[in-house]
Amino acid sequence: MNKSCLAHLALAATFACCVGEAAAQQSQSRPWMNPHLSPDERADMVLKEMTLDEKIDLLHGNGMPGWHGKTFPNAYLGNGGAGFVLGASRLGIPMIQMSDAAYGVRSSGDNGRYSTALPSNIAAASSWDPQAACWYGGLIGRELRAQGYNMTLGGGVNITREPRNGRTFEYQGEDPILAGTLVGNRIKCEQAEHVIGDIKHYAVNDQESGRNEVNSVIGKRAMRESDLLAFEIGIQIGNPAAVMCSYNAVNGDFSCENKYLLTDVLKKDWNFKGFVVSDWGGTHSTVKASAAGLDNEEPEDLFYGEKLKQAVQDGKISNAELDDHVHRVLRSEFLSGVVDWPAEKRVVDVEGGFEISRRIAEQSIVLLKNTGMLPLDPEKIRSIAVIGPHANEGMISGGGSAQVDAPGRPAAKWQEQIWFPTSPLKAIRAKAPNADIKFDAGTEPSAAAAVAKQADVAFVFVYQWTSEGMDLPNLSLPENQDALIEQVATANPRTVVVLETGTAVTMPWADKVGGIVEAWYAGSKGADAVANILFGDVNPSAKLPITFPRSEADLPHPNLVMPPPGATGPEAVMRTGEAKPTFEVHYDEGLKVGYKWYDAEKKPVLFPFGYGLSYTTYSYSGLKVAPGEKVTVSFTVRNTGKRAGAEIAEVYASLPSEAGEPPKRLVGWSKIKLNPGESKEVTLMIDRKYLSIYDESQDAWKLVPGQYTFMAGGSSQELPLRQTVSLN
Ligand code: BGC
Repeated sequence: MNKSCLAHLALAATFACCVGEAAAQQSQSRPWMNPHLSPDERADMVLKEMTLDEKIDLLHGNGMPGWHGKTFPNAYLGNGGAGFVLGASRLGIPMIQMSDAAYGVRSSGDNGRYSTALPSNIAAASSWDPQAACWYGGLIGRELRAQGYNMTLGGGVNITREPRNGRTFEYQGEDPILAGTLVGNRIKCEQAEHVIGDIKHYAVNDQESGRNEVNSVIGKRAMRESDLLAFEIGIQIGNPAAVMCSYNAVNGDFSCENKYLLTDVLKKDWNFKGFVVSDWGGTHSTVKASAAGLDNEEPEDLFYGEKLKQAVQDGKISNAELDDHVHRVLRSEFLSGVVDWPAEKRVVDVEGGFEISRRIAEQSIVLLKNTGMLPLDPEKIRSIAVIGPHANEGMISGGGSAQVDAPGRPAAKWQEQIWFPTSPLKAIRAKAPNADIKFDAGTEPSAAAAVAKQADVAFVFVYQWTSEGMDLPNLSLPENQDALIEQVATANPRTVVVLETGTAVTMPWADKVGGIVEAWYAGSKGADAVANILFGDVNPSAKLPITFPRSEADLPHPNLVMPPPGATGPEAVMRTGEAKPTFEVHYDEGLKVGYKWYDAEKKPVLFPFGYGLSYTTYSYSGLKVAPGEKVTVSFTVRNTGKRAGAEIAEVYASLPSEAGEPPKRLVGWSKIKLNPGESKEVTLMIDRKYLSIYDESQDAWKLVPGQYTFMAGGSSQELPLRQTVSLN
């Protein structure tokens, strides 16, 4: 062994010995630092050492940059995100640095950092793919840590009852089993990176209009079987350390002081062991909120600072209740690993992020119509017209607290429209280098039509921008884009429309065009993913997680319910303890959410839930249903076309008529890769809960004995296989 090697060895030995000694000392003075103990044991040990002030510190935020509230003396300790909670540094408990991270880590622009924008959440839900959800969460977890954060505020899973909701792009669609499964897998993989995961906005925050002052009125059964079921499944799969209660009230009580939601359902029935964090400014009381189960107020300390301390000292809140809140925060820090693996700032893996973002986008883009134009063969195309606002430079992204800042430009302002620098024009040029490609922004529909007329094919990129804090007035494309498409398609029927939307849109021109591609908000590498689909390098496989209705008149609420004139307004409601909801939205459609509504009401739709085309075709055969502890459903899917592809095979069930349910519900699915001519048997084990109803009189799930019909196929309206069995 040479000299330098020996020196290294000696150094290593000294280091190992020091580390060993330090650990030993640490485990004597701070026994909770022993990672072999359970998170609960560790939390209890810390709790015993804490003073009242230290406990209170864990239960509220310390302001948020740009939030018009009090200035906290320790605000400088924040990392630039949505807020932070002081730890207990004396005891080795780190601060919780939170960042919004719906489709990527927010606010990178402000602190000079970089984040990958993934496709929006509704886009990723179109992949129906738990594995893709896991990549999604894993990437966000890594980028949070690289930016010095250890808690995410992502994980939105409000069910799409109202497609005009401006945050539809942040959620996972209209079906609770699909949405819950995907958000759960995202959270599981996010937390595996040692960040505190979050699921939100609990619950029935299904529109943005008047969100701080609306009372969502909904039956218990409808809520348990739809909106809450998505959370229940998400929590079961992902085990998030935190649940964010929403701004709105549910059946009379604000969500963040709603005992039914926070204690009866979440903490007791679902046995949730993490902590409940209020939406920003969503706390309205101290004693009531604490008793109802709110653990942490964000982003200030209006109710969970001095007032909480006083209430404990006055005996209005017991020490046991206080300690339960603190225990939950501490336990979550241990469980997620933020104590044992502190976040360290480092350079984000930009290329790795691009790769994941593009791959997820390719699985998220839904082919809605194809008269045979697609995929395009670049060898055969001489000229292409690329039309549409910004189609030369970028693709739109979703706004509000979900907004990821685009690289190379200042941080986005609230509700600023941000076009990510992923250029459809460039991506198409790269695919068809020999074609004559002309761009027109589409400002003048007639001028754009003239450009389209000269070309072999026209691509029209249209957008619908949506954001937190607003709803859409309707589902039409804004800014005269319907007229643009009409005129271009009239000039050249070989027109393909690429939609960049946050939710469903109406399409008065649908019959006139040769192709329709739903790209959603496609993320950092959206244009490459779209081009890969258009030119057939990727065979589309995504399916819609929401129904596209024919018109707003077919929605359960044809008109959005708006706050009445003279309502107090969000600011007033957010800061006061006496706040009361000022108006109600009655979700009288109840169980009939999304496709269940259109099925029950026999309303034809533009594109149904679960629908999406491929460049190949599939056939279904041989359905077998075997009742048992779980119901086993199996069938064969065959690729009957000429290209390899991945089919999302969907299984629905109709319950016995005594159950009083909508005509059918999704109960399972599987994504199968198939080469041309290949067939595979799919076997799904259906959980009995997914076949049950929530019995309000018993406050329990129950399987109604009787005849169950199982159906399998490629969309909610194309189910060639069906078999009826008796279950009890
Ligand atoms: C949003 C939350 C978000 C929070 C912090 C609120 O306005 O509703 O989703 O996490 O702000 O930015």
